Amino acid sequence: MIIAHTIPELRAALAGRGRPAFVPTMGNLHAGHIALVRQAMPLGDVTVASIFVNRLQFLPHEDFDSYPRTWDSDCAQLTAAGCDVLFAPREADLYPEPQTFKVAPDPALADLLEGHFRPGFFTGVCTVVMKLFSAVFFGSGAGGGTAVFGKKDYQQLMVIRRMVQQFALPIGVVAGDTARADDGLALSSRNGYLSAEDRQRAVQLSQALGQLAQAVRAAGADPLPALEARALKDLGDLGWQPDYLTVRRRADLQAPGDAAALEGPLVALGAARLGSTRLIDNLEF
Ligand code: PAF
Repeated sequence: MIIAHTIPELRAALAGRGRPAFVPTMGNLHAGHIALVRQAMPLGDVTVASIFVNRLQFLPHEDFDSYPRTWDSDCAQLTAAGCDVLFAPREADLYPEPQTFKVAPDPALADLLEGHFRPGFFTGVCTVVMKLFSAVFFGSGAGGGTAVFGKKDYQQLMVIRRMVQQFALPIGVVAGDTARADDGLALSSRNGYLSAEDRQRAVQLSQALGQLAQAVRAAGADPLPALEARALKDLGDLGWQPDYLTVRRRADLQAPGDAAALEGPLVALGAARLGSTRLIDNLEF
C-alpha cells in the first residue's frame, strides 16, 4: 500500500492508475470501515482510503483532541484488506492556510437531526469531503470515480449525495450497509469510549429504533409524535440522554406528513448519550 501525505504525493501515486474507488475515514478503523473498503474494490481501478481527523466538523466542546488515533492498526488493517493507496494528510497538508472557503449544505437537509444538535457539522463534513474529492479524483488524470459512504451516518450520506448532485461532480456515491457487533450494536469508532457496563447496554439504542419502527407500522390511531415521545421517554428511563428518536421519509429526511407517507419508505433515526458517549444509529423500514 502506498502512503501519501500531501495532495501532490497522492496525485503522483494515482497518475495513470485509472478511476479511484474511495473510502474517506477519520481512522480508528474497525470491521465496518474495512467492509466499505472491500465494497469499494470492484468499483474502481485503484482503491483509495483516507485517514484525516477533520477539525472543521467538531464543535469546540467535542472530542477532536481525544479522538482515537490508531495509525499502526489502521495501516495494518488497510494493507491486509488490499487497499492500494492511503491518503493520510497532516492538518497542514490539507489546510495549509485557514480554510475560509467552505461548502455550506442546504439547510433543509443539513440543519435538522445531527445538524441541529451539532451546528456547523455538515459544513465541516462537506468542506473536507469536497477537498478530499478534489485530491483523489482530480489532478491525476482520473476525472471522477466512485466514493463509498456508510449508511451508519445516514444523514451524512444524503448530504454528500446532494452535494455531488448539485455541483455535478462526476463521482458515483455508493452506500455501504452498517456493520454490527453480534449483539446488534452498530460498529463505531466512538464505541471504544464506552465502559464495559455501558457497552453491554449500548444495543438499547438500535433496539429502541426497532421498537419505534414496529410501533409506527402497527400504529392504528396513534400519531407519530406520540410514538416518538414514548420512544424518547423509554430510552431516557433506561438511563440514556437522547437527542432525538424520530421517523423520517427516506427521500428527504422530512417528517412523514400524512398517512400515505407513513406507508412509504421510512427510516428511524436516533442519537443518544450513554454516559459521556454519544452514539447514533438508524433503521430503514
Ligand atoms: O464519516 C466520517 O468518518 C467523516 O465524517 C468523513 C466522511 C471522513 C469526513 O471527515
